[in-house]
Amino acid sequence: MASISERTFIAIKPDGVQRGLVGEIIRRFEQKGFKLVAMKLTHASEDLLREHYIDLKDRPFYAGLVQYMHSGPIVAMVWEGLNVIKTGRVMLGETNPMDSKPGTIRGDLCVQVGRNIIHGSDSVESPQKEISLWFKPAELIDYRSCAHVRIYERCRFP
Ligand code: RTP
Ligand code: MG
Repeated sequence: MASISERTFIAIKPDGVQRGLVGEIIRRFEQKGFKLVAMKLTHASEDLLREHYIDLKDRPFYAGLVQYMHSGPIVAMVWEGLNVIKTGRVMLGETNPMDSKPGTIRGDLCVQVGRNIIHGSDSVESPQKEISLWFKPAELIDYRSCAHVRIYERCRFP
């Protein structure tokens, strides 16, 4: 069932960080109305990255993907909101920027699939696994946004 406390894992990949796109990407999620519940700059270990992309382990690009993700710091984030997993993926655009529409992050800000600047959880099950891989429970911050009642219907005013 749709929940306003649905969460997704979003990561700005090393190319996004190096190209100075952190602010632009965060701006898009903030302005949409999603709530930031965790964020850190981290240089992920190859072990973590191998586990993060374990479903792709048999693909020919797996080793290169792990190397790319290990090439510099990543901004790891958890965003919360109604339908945030699916909407987040729409905001990202297609895996290959060449197929991504203008207006999407990949459609506007990058060119090639192996340098597509951002990761987003892609199913209802994946955020739970990814969030626990990248964050300790105490790093997820519980708070009520003052914008909440202006973003969602049927919320009581404080
Ligand atoms: P992500 O997990 O990073 O959000 O990307 P995605 O769901 O859109 O695509 P996925 O199939 O999970 O692929 C993960 C990342 O692997 C790289 N890739 N390279 N060379 C290639 O053909 C190829 N295909 C995928 C991309 O960086 C992709 O985001
Ligand atoms: Mg994926």
